Amino acid sequence: MNIGEWIRCAPVEWLDAEAIAAHSLGVTRSQVLAHPEWDAPELALEMLLQKRLTGMPLAYVTGRKEFYGRDFVVNPSVLIPRPETEVLVEAVLPLLAPGMLCVDIGTGSGVIAITLALESPETCWIATDVSGAALRIAAQNAHALASPIKFIRADRLEALAARSVDLIVSNPPYVTPGDVRLQAEVERFEPHIALFAKNGTSFIRELVHDARRVLRPHGIVAFEFGAGQSGEVREILCDLHHKVVPDLAGVDRVAIARL
Ligand SMILES: C[S@@+](CC[C@H](N)C(=O)[O-])C[C@H]1O[C@@H](n2cnc3c(N)ncnc32)[C@H](O)[C@@H]1O
Repeated sequence: MNIGEWIRCAPVEWLDAEAIAAHSLGVTRSQVLAHPEWDAPELALEMLLQKRLTGMPLAYVTGRKEFYGRDFVVNPSVLIPRPETEVLVEAVLPLLAPGMLCVDIGTGSGVIAITLALESPETCWIATDVSGAALRIAAQNAHALASPIKFIRADRLEALAARSVDLIVSNPPYVTPGDVRLQAEVERFEPHIALFAKNGTSFIRELVHDARRVLRPHGIVAFEFGAGQSGEVREILCDLHHKVVPDLAGVDRVAIARL
């Protein structure tokens, strides 16, 4: 069978079939589309297809996800990077200046720290996570993308000295356990430590509390939060200069506060 026929017959969405075909051949999607006559590596395709048919997200099946125009390695020990997080990156970029010491808390696959470090090369970056498995993926991505980041395994901001940091950025766990809006595929396959916080905003509350200790005067804390959490977030930040930024759908998703 050739790859074009395989894509047409695969019992998954067309785009998923194309991505699986491209991954199994080690080429891009457009190369697959340009060469439907290529032989289909049927055994490799079947293994990937079976994984997708269990409901496993495509990014875990192919082991890759694009973020801010770059290709990142992912596996089930890290959250799959989301487009909302690109809004956080866009909001933080104009705040960066040469020489700033910046920290990404809960770095997962490393997308935030790596992207910001590459986009603003004169800033210095530390990235932390409690998950050793996540940090291994983040380090692999940093190496592949030539982004010099110092990775530390630590709980929240515990590894950081008082008044030592200029900017803290985080996409923290913010889903309330039992939230019915969470897709079944997400709950089943993505790491629960990356998703859930006791009452949704509990991690954010602790992050902002700890940021007051760790940030230098006029330091900045920026983070993503869940749809519907804007009111609580504004209350957490009420004594700081802050602003809230909407995502592309117009839903408040990112907060930036300055000490
Ligand atoms: C929502 S994910 C974000 C991952 C990545 N930054 C991104 O935006 O795709 C949250 C991350 O926080 C980490 N995490 C959870 N609890 C933590 C804690 N107490 N201290 C540090 N990191 C934590 C998880 O392991 C996970 O990688």
